[in-house]
Amino acid sequence: MQEAGVNLVSVGIFSWSRLEPSEGNFEFGWLDRVLDLLHDGGVQANLATATASPPPWLAHRHPEMLPVLADGVKLWHGARQHYCPSSPVYRDAAKRLVTAMAERYGKHPALAMWHVGNEYGCHVPACWCDVSAAAFRAWLRERYGSLDELNAGWGTDFWSQRYSSWEEIIPPRRTPTWPNPSQQLDFMRFSSDALLECYEIEHEVLKRATPEVPVTTNFMSFFKPLDYWKWAEREDVVSNDSYPDPSDARSGMRAAMAGDLMRSLGRGRPWILMEQTTNRVNWREINVAKAPGQMRLWSFQAVARGADGVMFFQWRQSRAGAEKHHSAMVPHGPVESSTTWRDVVRLGSELGRLDAVRGAQSRAMVAMLFDWESWWALELPSKPSTRLRQLDQVEAYYQPLFEANQLIDFARPGDDLSSYRLVLAPNLYLVSDEAAASLEAYVEGGGTAVMSFFSGIVDPAEHIRLGGYPQPFRKMLGLDVIDFLPLPADHEVALRFGDGALGRGTIWSEDIVLAGAESLATFSDLPLGGRPAITSHRFGEGTAFYLGTQPDPKTMARLLELACSSAGVEPTAEAPAGVEAVRRWARGKSFLFLLNHRDLWVDVPIARAGTNLVDGSEVHAGLVRLGPRDVAVIGEGW
Ligand code: GAL
Repeated sequence: MQEAGVNLVSVGIFSWSRLEPSEGNFEFGWLDRVLDLLHDGGVQANLATATASPPPWLAHRHPEMLPVLADGVKLWHGARQHYCPSSPVYRDAAKRLVTAMAERYGKHPALAMWHVGNEYGCHVPACWCDVSAAAFRAWLRERYGSLDELNAGWGTDFWSQRYSSWEEIIPPRRTPTWPNPSQQLDFMRFSSDALLECYEIEHEVLKRATPEVPVTTNFMSFFKPLDYWKWAEREDVVSNDSYPDPSDARSGMRAAMAGDLMRSLGRGRPWILMEQTTNRVNWREINVAKAPGQMRLWSFQAVARGADGVMFFQWRQSRAGAEKHHSAMVPHGPVESSTTWRDVVRLGSELGRLDAVRGAQSRAMVAMLFDWESWWALELPSKPSTRLRQLDQVEAYYQPLFEANQLIDFARPGDDLSSYRLVLAPNLYLVSDEAAASLEAYVEGGGTAVMSFFSGIVDPAEHIRLGGYPQPFRKMLGLDVIDFLPLPADHEVALRFGDGALGRGTIWSEDIVLAGAESLATFSDLPLGGRPAITSHRFGEGTAFYLGTQPDPKTMARLLELACSSAGVEPTAEAPAGVEAVRRWARGKSFLFLLNHRDLWVDVPIARAGTNLVDGSEVHAGLVRLGPRDVAVIGEGW
């Protein structure tokens, strides 16, 4: 570990059955030894609470703690994460273990951070068992207060679903056709909250025992089942696990996007890349290895996007068990001949030179609204088109801005947006009155917004907002949408811009009537030939752009460039295609990260001289050369 520059290790994540081999009998000797060894070697511990995989004895004694799927199938022990999130048996046992851990190790000098559970919801994000049903009812009573309110909120007169007692209410189990959408949406909210309660139980024990020790749990990038806005509020440090597919050309962009999300979830605080693989994973159909330099590149990318720590799953590749073919820092074979080990050692020493970057902040001028509830609601079945997927839409905005080196923060609808010059709202299908009003006020006060079709359609109950689509944004956008005309799967519509430029739209079209907005582009094919497709509207002091279709990538890039220039948003740097440029600031200093995603040499123009912290070399204003997948972190003006 010392050779690799390791200074923080996650310990004990899946060791409940070792720590408590039978009910109430704890065996800590082995962990004492591990923590002492780490401490003696100058390595700190991110100590896990070990509750992500209950021991077999717990499931054997209390099978009612096992999770059940929507169609009644029970998930048994023998893998991991086999617990019903609402199970009092599981919760009590977890609390007992965490209490014992906190007592034993709260004062251990190696303890730097607590790691609660692991990847909550990764395999079992929700449970439909009877225990969960009772907990769901309790959650609903809290939310609605009365059955009448619940019946109104769920629109239960439709299809004769009116409930006459709380006991009749169940989670949305397998039904003949779609279960009630408002019920499904509430069940998603409940399921995220149920797991958050598990986290909270442990968090409370740890905070009481060791108030000064930071607590985290590892996120999984854009993980649909958990509303990470709510979760991140309960963490001292946001941490993330990132496993981009090396065989997918969009992976670099996606990893950047996940990094931006983590920074935003922590409201700008530095985060930790908790897990990544050194090389291959074991869970794709084909586990393509990272290309030479890719692990280093993606590690530096995380730091560029706000991480102050880079870690791996896993230290030593195991001999047995389900993950023995997953790469590790220490491979099965001899380290001397391992390129992975060589790369790990190099990364460790290079990261060791970035101390000055710690705590540095980013300054994004662009925010993208992102909301888990809207994502859940948008992708519930029975919509105009199932081809409309939240993350595809987010990426359609993110990709061209990533390529143009525009830094993006993610924002929760309703957040104060006043520090941003440009706000993007890809398909904000569900929106609360307050969030809609906050976006409207932002534009009215001088902000620029870009919004896509099928936004502002429902309220938080998933009821249509009546009064014409998109009801809460009609004034801001200066238009009315008369109806939606989703496009068949292989269908495109032609777009014509005022300046004669042509483009194409996919997924969606709609019948727009202007009410103050101007048309930037029209549909040129029937049935909407000549009608507005893309519009802009001066509203108060600001401008709102609207996209009534999904423009092709080039057109999207052009539109976003227009929005950026009209909002006065500048890119971080002008860099050649494939070079990512991101800046962080700390204590009056700035750090320019240059990341070459291509496997070619590139020359990057540099405005300010400085020092490349990665190798200590001096950088002169002019051109900096980067090799294939090479990186530079330039302390500007040093
Ligand atoms: C994560 C998990 C690790 C390991 C890894 C494999 O989801 O937290 O325990 O399974 O994936 O890629």
